[in-house]
Amino acid sequence: MSDQTILLRVTGASKSFGGLKALSDVSISIAPREIYGLIGPNGAGKTTFFNVITGLYQPDAGRFELEGQPYSPKSIHGVVEAGIARTFQNIRLFPEMTVLENVMVGRHCRTQGLHAGVLGAVFRSASFRAMEQGIRSHSRDLLAYVGLAERAADMASTLSYGDQRRLEIARALATEPRLLALDEPAAGMNATEKNGLRELLRRIRDDGRTILIIEHDVKLVMGLCNRVTVLDYGKVIAAGTPQNVRQDPAVIEAYLGRAAAQEAQA
Ligand SMILES: Nc1ncnc2c1ncn2[C@@H]1O[C@H](COP(=O)(O)OP(=O)(O)O)[C@@H](O)[C@H]1O
Ligand SMILES: [Mg+2]
Repeated sequence: MSDQTILLRVTGASKSFGGLKALSDVSISIAPREIYGLIGPNGAGKTTFFNVITGLYQPDAGRFELEGQPYSPKSIHGVVEAGIARTFQNIRLFPEMTVLENVMVGRHCRTQGLHAGVLGAVFRSASFRAMEQGIRSHSRDLLAYVGLAERAADMASTLSYGDQRRLEIARALATEPRLLALDEPAAGMNATEKNGLRELLRRIRDDGRTILIIEHDVKLVMGLCNRVTVLDYGKVIAAGTPQNVRQDPAVIEAYLGRAAAQEAQA
């Protein structure tokens, strides 16, 4: 695929922790407006891959390009600026802030909130108030979009697990990302919440965004993703459409077989 048709291209990403190779020469190309799945057993390196593309960890090797331009994920701010937003496997909200305020934080990241904020707070200027109003109303729109409009004034800590994950998605969307990276967004959700999540992610994609998703629920991944990459022990063992990947003997051995065996036991 040419550079124009690739949103994020990662070539040869590696990352070790001491003697442990968490990522070995991992390459992934994500096209605009697709839902791309990253799957694999626990400890396969999925979260490490997210940490590397979002600047939390410095990779030992690897080339990164966004829409054909070199991209070096360093600071969190630079990553947001470049257009990548993520959620976390272990939810990271501000529990003692309201649901609405949690989204506004994401929006502030986008609107250079710091400078305008500090000066504006001193002078209480009209433009500062207008900006705050804009952020507030856009954040309310996003809450409605993810189905949390009614909870805007509640403390984030009072939300159910599933709703907290939706709130994290709203906060990530507030930065207007080109790529939305979701680390196990369905973890802890019941079947109804998972169906709601599937619909939400499809809507986000259909509205023009690109999604990279780490997910354990094989059924959810297969039904949702346009393409998937399978990691095992830090290496890519398969990549392609869900249909192709699920028939790959290496995948069945490394992952789907084990997952199916675990499901059968449960
Ligand atoms: N900060 C870290 N320090 C040391 N080891 C780590 C660190 N982060 C991840 N690892 C190790 O790297 C491997 C991959 O972890 P991770 O990327 O979290 O896997 P996954 O998300 O696929 O379950 C695991 O063996 C894990 O223990
Ligand atoms: Mg993980």
